[in-house]
Amino acid sequence: MTVTQALNWAREKLQTSCERPQFEAELLLAHHLGKDRTYLILHPDEIVADAAGFERLVERRAKHEPYEYIVGEASFYDVHLKVAPGVLIPRPETELLIDHAAKIIEREKITSIAEIGVGSGAISIILARKFPHLHIIATDICDIPLKIAAQNAKHLGVSEQIELRKSNLLDEVSESVEMVVSNPPYIAQDALLEANVAHYEPKEALFGGNVGDELLKQIILEVKQRRIKWLACEMGYDQKAPIQAFVNEVGVKSVTFYKDLAGLDRGFVIAFE
Ligand SMILES: C[S@@+](CC[C@H](N)C(=O)[O-])C[C@H]1O[C@@H](n2cnc3c(N)ncnc32)[C@H](O)[C@@H]1O
Repeated sequence: MTVTQALNWAREKLQTSCERPQFEAELLLAHHLGKDRTYLILHPDEIVADAAGFERLVERRAKHEPYEYIVGEASFYDVHLKVAPGVLIPRPETELLIDHAAKIIEREKITSIAEIGVGSGAISIILARKFPHLHIIATDICDIPLKIAAQNAKHLGVSEQIELRKSNLLDEVSESVEMVVSNPPYIAQDALLEANVAHYEPKEALFGGNVGDELLKQIILEVKQRRIKWLACEMGYDQKAPIQAFVNEVGVKSVTFYKDLAGLDRGFVIAFE
């Protein structure tokens, strides 16, 4: 099978499962060969080594397995992060949460924060890279994210700054911190999700409760009770009104909501004192 034949076969296979079958076929073949996409264009007649191995990758993608799990990494911000089943694939909108948190860290000269729900380490690692003097305690309730986040932090040279801890929310964090950052699970239990998400990504990373915002509200309460000054969170596009009502009830100094690049409500920053 030549490069051109492999791409034609893969494009057909991916027709119903992918929005961009040609592009994904190229990405998978480039990954399989350990080359970039330009190489494929320059070598259309080359025989594909281990064609059966390539076919297995394509079959997995045709069954909706996310591309990032197949290749074992995701691009996020300015880095590549290792990902694996059991760890949420970091999403581009979370880069905005980082930018909002970073503005406050810079302005307020914050040196200690906690992250709830570290996942692959996406948020803590980028913040650690931006602020070399920042110390972060990052929790997760599941073991696999803690293991993968540790590997990513080490690989990207920030493991000295990030302390990983198995914990429900901040239960195991007794130290005082100045800010909490979180992209918690915020989807409603009965939400209809695309097959690549529903069948492959970890439930613990997706569902925030029956309504979806239960964990977000718990985080707001806990941060207030612990007298931590700042909280920055990602949320669902339809959660602004319930979160606004909740913070009015709880009492905060200020809350600012932000939108994602699609113009949807996507998160908030709360100042408590
Ligand atoms: C939406 S993912 C976010 C992962 C990563 N921070 C990111 O933005 O890509 C939520 C993470 O929170 C963790 N989690 C869920 N419930 C938790 C809890 N009660 N306490 C701590 N972590 C929790 C999940 O295991 C998952 O890794």
